[in-house]
Amino acid sequence: MSTPKDFNDRMLSLGLARVAEQAAIASAKLVGHGDEKAADQAAVNAMREQLNMLDIAGVVVIGEGERDEAPMLYIGEEVGTGNGPGVDIALDPLEGTTLTAKDMPNALTVIAMGPRGSMLHAPDVYMDKLAIGPGYAEDTVTLDMSPAERVQALARAKGCDASDITCCILERPRHEEMIAEVRATGAAIRLITDGDVAGVMHCAEPQITGIDMYMGSGGAPEGVLAAAALKCMGGQIYGRLLFRNDDERGRAAKAGITDLNRVYKRDDMVTDHVIFAATGVTNGSILSGIKREIGWITTETLLMRSKTGSVRRVIYRNPFK
Ligand code: FBP
Repeated sequence: MSTPKDFNDRMLSLGLARVAEQAAIASAKLVGHGDEKAADQAAVNAMREQLNMLDIAGVVVIGEGERDEAPMLYIGEEVGTGNGPGVDIALDPLEGTTLTAKDMPNALTVIAMGPRGSMLHAPDVYMDKLAIGPGYAEDTVTLDMSPAERVQALARAKGCDASDITCCILERPRHEEMIAEVRATGAAIRLITDGDVAGVMHCAEPQITGIDMYMGSGGAPEGVLAAAALKCMGGQIYGRLLFRNDDERGRAAKAGITDLNRVYKRDDMVTDHVIFAATGVTNGSILSGIKREIGWITTETLLMRSKTGSVRRVIYRNPFK
């Protein structure tokens, strides 16, 4: 018998879907309007309002930034009615602000929730990331391998040629060498301009997305969200924090991180069962984006529980002005 203080992931998951849906709906009118900030703000407001309706004693551990940088959903902010289980929340109200502003694929609203203490308090620094889908032995690929070695190791494990592997990489000048090295193996690359949570999630369903592996650096908070997604979908992710200066090392210290070179595996970033919800804002390979018709709005949400491995795709249609 569960008490109200237990992490009742089964019941809470439906509430989590609403949080993700409402954040997407709030940004609907801003898709393609060239204003990243306005779209993000609309999603933040809606996510916070919905979270505060849930019967949880929630703490934002991955959020919009430090308290002095973000007025809402800042790291450490308490959310929920306070009447319910203590939970950690990792969120990105709009993952892909530029994708939304430009109406480009795979912008999502993303939120994960787990029992208190279940998620890495990743500072807002970069993280070197490497992810593959389910069905491979642990450490089939590692961060210590070169990009070419990773492709070859995955091809061996998959029983195919390197040229049958597709990697997803963020298109950034810092990744130019990595991109060249991966291409030299014969592997294909799906370059994305933003949105590495979706980038990593692609690996969990290679038969649908055509992507076998994700690699490259991006936001550490997004790394924890991606780990939560893979905890539900299956697959492995490795992350190592990257620090460019003392201010960033200070952020790590503040988050209680002492080993700055540690490689975090999926279950180090997310140590207990979690629930995860993501709603499509723009059309993408994982989720359809928001659809607006006169008088109506429709969203698609991926809602998952790691405890059961259950995956729901929730289509929500609602009157909209
Ligand atoms: P925003 O939604 O905050 O704009 O982040 C998008 C994103 O592409 C993330 O998915 C990724 O982790 C990060 O930015 C990469 O950072 P940078 O743009 O500095 O390379």
